[in-house]
Amino acid sequence: MVGARPDAEAPSWAERFLAVRELTEALAAPLSAEDQTVQSMPDASPTKWHRAHTTWFFDEFVLQPHHAGYRTYDPAYRYLFNSYYEAVGPRHPRASRGVVSRPGVEEVGRFRSHVDDALVDLLAADPAPEVLALVELGCHHEQQHQELLLMDIKHALAHNRLDPVYRTARAAARPAPELRWVAQPGGAVCIGHDGSGFAYDNEGPVHRQWLEPFELASRAVTNAEVEAFIDDGGYRRSELWLSDGWATVQAEGWDAPLYWQAEPDGWSVFTLGGRTPVDPHQPACHLSYYEADAIARWSGARLPTEAEWESVAVRQAPVGNVLDVDLLHPLAAPADGPDVAQLYGDVWEWTASAYLPYPGFQPAAGAVGEYNGKFMVNQHVLRGGACVTPPGHIRATYRNFFPLGLQRCPPRKERDPMTTIDQPRVEVLLQAQDWRDARAAEVRSGLAASPPQLSPVWFYDERGSILFDQITRLPEYYQTRAERRLLQQHMDDLALLGIETLVELGSGTSDKTVEIIAALTRSGSLRTYVPFDVSEATLRGAIDKLGAQFPELAFHGIVGDFHQHLGQIPAKGRTLVAFLGGTIGNLRPHERARFLEDLGSAMAPDDLLLIGIDLLKDPAQIVAAYDDAEGVTAAFNRNSLVVLDRELGADFEPSDFDHVARWNAEERWIEMRLRARRPVHATIASLDVAVDLDEGDDLLTEISAKFAPEDFAGELSAHGFAADVTWVSPGDEFGLVLARRV
Ligand code: SAH
Ligand code: TRP
Repeated sequence: MVGARPDAEAPSWAERFLAVRELTEALAAPLSAEDQTVQSMPDASPTKWHRAHTTWFFDEFVLQPHHAGYRTYDPAYRYLFNSYYEAVGPRHPRASRGVVSRPGVEEVGRFRSHVDDALVDLLAADPAPEVLALVELGCHHEQQHQELLLMDIKHALAHNRLDPVYRTARAAARPAPELRWVAQPGGAVCIGHDGSGFAYDNEGPVHRQWLEPFELASRAVTNAEVEAFIDDGGYRRSELWLSDGWATVQAEGWDAPLYWQAEPDGWSVFTLGGRTPVDPHQPACHLSYYEADAIARWSGARLPTEAEWESVAVRQAPVGNVLDVDLLHPLAAPADGPDVAQLYGDVWEWTASAYLPYPGFQPAAGAVGEYNGKFMVNQHVLRGGACVTPPGHIRATYRNFFPLGLQRCPPRKERDPMTTIDQPRVEVLLQAQDWRDARAAEVRSGLAASPPQLSPVWFYDERGSILFDQITRLPEYYQTRAERRLLQQHMDDLALLGIETLVELGSGTSDKTVEIIAALTRSGSLRTYVPFDVSEATLRGAIDKLGAQFPELAFHGIVGDFHQHLGQIPAKGRTLVAFLGGTIGNLRPHERARFLEDLGSAMAPDDLLLIGIDLLKDPAQIVAAYDDAEGVTAAFNRNSLVVLDRELGADFEPSDFDHVARWNAEERWIEMRLRARRPVHATIASLDVAVDLDEGDDLLTEISAKFAPEDFAGELSAHGFAADVTWVSPGDEFGLVLARRV
């Protein structure tokens, strides 16, 4: 072999060029002219546009400047098919590429042939190295668009409820190996491309970085792991998300990765091969940065930096499940792969690194300098290529980049136009005057009692509701966490009961209710949520928030008093009435009795009742829950006087009172009291009532009864209900009772 040129067998420039051009046409071939013109969102482009734009790139940057005899196919195409090159001039707006019906697909085909012929002609004339470099850039550019073309057509087809198939799926199922963490030594590493062979300008200059020792997962995150994240409330737990990510989750109502859809028996996913059940072993794909970051945090890990990724990937050949494997979908990791598998192909890996210039970076000269450098803000780097990346296009130093939350504009099931246009309904049963009269009477009789008492409704003005929300997050206040856990664990048990309406009494912020709604919408039966609360502002806030999260759910809010209006609750179909937070314990025994009787008459025979009760336990733990170290409960308690002053023209001075939480062992309830620090003489102007207290005298503001599960079941059965099950949280802290009418 002595004397043979090392690249004697390598394809010529013309062959390489034509192979790239033919692959683009082959990828477009399964698509009709109509398919090729659709654009499903501003950030996606029609197939026909990708075909024309990659052709324009050669026309604009190679042929016009460097081929003496070249005549452009149509000078107007510069306007239609320039993507973002300011130096080239104005262009058709990106968001409306889908309206460009002409040139049609065949005309675009002729444009492509025209450019192909001229370029082969140019290459035959042995052009200068800088021209060849532009041809090479054009080929890599077109390969990027091959991947984009598939990504964009998938998005467009996914909008069609008929789930059209781009190309029949090639089956490739295998189990994913157990995830391991592979230790990496770190130290000084060389990052970036050294200039041998093709690379984009953003991959250099090569430079050193220092890495602390770290571990890298042995394979990509699987769908099973994402499902576990979902089941653990991942899309509903703000603590797992970056702030911008959480805002996006809520604004766009994310509850699963893009293209996932809940089916009666699990999740399905839209693929280029149509809709199929989610394969738990396959790598999860189409995750936004925010999701990747949240899933990593949830699993106790973090995303790698791009330097960490590259320091490991550089030791492997850039091969894997890429476009020529022809699955067009990620494949479960191999059992016999490298210690860190799937670095190349399958799915792009998000890195924790912002997309920034490397030290000493200079964009390429001329208009093609706009290729990468001007995008170096507000995006993160992805590495390693995907199942739709053309072979030969990926390498260890390759830096892809993408905005963090854009991955979506999800082609969800269409919303019922009526429910999106309609304002959510909020019905106000509580007439302001009746309310004031009833409250006035209550205050009058309450203050005459011994000890004088106030009704709990005075707690829940806007400030009170905010303080209560803070109470539910206190370390001492175990109830909310325990109850949420129980809901997460058990609400799927109700999936098959065909519940169509969920009514919630004293719904407040409806925070935990999300767990019930999520479970009942997974099963597909739930239609309407009826939150019921005295506080109109809190109720509307809850509906706004849930409306974004559950776009298909109908809402019918009720501003009412559950001592008065239980008979007026609208319900269609089988109904679950939820009464959470241990609020039943805030009613006196005689009030509970009446409440249960009223509720029983309002419910249909096969409706269900779900009640949260706080359980009897060590009084010290209970007292701490109502007398927290931060003083939130004290502020909440004193706020009732602020409300009283404002609503009834009283002149209590809240700072005259101490907050007291007292366990009443006989009654088995905790008492919230406000104790006078000094003699108090107050008046309630609108009632013409005077209140006189000595130092140390108490106002009783609230009771919160604690129950033994069997006693509570007895109480239910005394009032026409039978407890079916009582789920109890670890440590017997809190109970959730499911009951039906008998
Ligand atoms: N269910 C929520 C909120 C519990 S706080 C949770 O579990 O966290 C009690 C809620 O009941 C408050 O939102 C309060 O406004 C509401 N509420 C209190 N008395 C009420 C009454 N008589 N009628 C209707 N809602 C009432
Ligand atoms: N339902 C809650 C409970 O009894 C309400 C509540 C929590 C509350 N903390 C409070 C009422 C403090 C008054 C004061 O646990």
